[in-house]
Amino acid sequence: MRRELPEHGLWVQVRAPGKLNLFLGVRGTRPDGYHELVTVFQAVSLYDQLRAGLIGPPGQGHHPAARRRMRVRLWHDSGDAIPGAEDNLAVRAARALGHAAGVMDLAYLDERAATMAQPDVDSAASPYTVLDLRKRIPIGGGMAGGSADAAATLVALNDLWRCQLTRLDLRRLGEQIGSDVPFCIAGGTALATGRGTSLAQVLCRGTFHWVVCEAGEPLSTAAVYGSWDRHCRPNEIEPDAVLQALRNSDAEALGAALHNDLEAAAFVLRPGLRDSKRLLLDHGALGAVLSGSGPTLLALAESEAVASGLADAVRHRFARVSVARSPVGGPELCPVLPAADELR
Ligand code: C5P
Repeated sequence: MRRELPEHGLWVQVRAPGKLNLFLGVRGTRPDGYHELVTVFQAVSLYDQLRAGLIGPPGQGHHPAARRRMRVRLWHDSGDAIPGAEDNLAVRAARALGHAAGVMDLAYLDERAATMAQPDVDSAASPYTVLDLRKRIPIGGGMAGGSADAAATLVALNDLWRCQLTRLDLRRLGEQIGSDVPFCIAGGTALATGRGTSLAQVLCRGTFHWVVCEAGEPLSTAAVYGSWDRHCRPNEIEPDAVLQALRNSDAEALGAALHNDLEAAAFVLRPGLRDSKRLLLDHGALGAVLSGSGPTLLALAESEAVASGLADAVRHRFARVSVARSPVGGPELCPVLPAADELR
């Protein structure tokens, strides 16, 4: 899947889906400060696109010595909403993989003003890696957008840098980057425990249709867990009804079984979300639930056509509303398009 583009070096491309939590139970706090979870993850058809390129003199990107001099740069088209520096999960993933694979001297350059059409002037002397990230998953929305970018980065750079790590190796590496990263590498449907990183694949028949309702302002995951600490108690609700609905391809049963213990905690921080959820149910959603730590709300519909109608009916209430389906597979390498302006 690697593609040599004469003027821009060697490129790979990965698209990575966001995730839904069909069930999220918080069992309590752990000694490490995280929360013990039982959750059912499902990958959903909202994708971030990542292109990873090795910029340098023709042919030298293949040379191991050139790899040791790589640098990471990051492009995105979402303004300042994405963490720009060391906090960016894609950059952290690149560092973690570089460390695991013995790529030395990996420095991060934040060069937002640069463009693909005008690569770094000293690239001939010092090859480097470029991450070109196009965001579509809500930012700070509870759909693991940052974790999907980390997963995409691990998959892309594992190929570009020829590290030859397995998907299981990448999942283990992903745990250090964020609790949702291992699932974002796996995709599909999974039952997760612990921090959310211990995964077991779950049988899911059929396809489910969602209306994804984004709030304008992001919510911090840590703040929502903090609110849970102050206002909520552990409970023992089990995900059995969700798992059965998935096995039976039963959207109505799934709608009734959707559950998220973080909802109450997020509603304390954003009281308006409660009314928004009510609006989705009043417009005929089979079920509605906060996505992860929110503030994105998800409404389940019986078909794609019904989802589109519901999306139109509630659009006025949200910053952005879209229709998506689940489950979908995890991040995969896909063919790289050659057009230079496509890379911006
Ligand atoms: O693992 P990650 O960095 O994505 O988690 C972000 C924050 O969410 C953590 O700092 C923690 O406050 C909270 N969290 C938690 N328990 C989990 C997952 C996340 O408390 N199982």
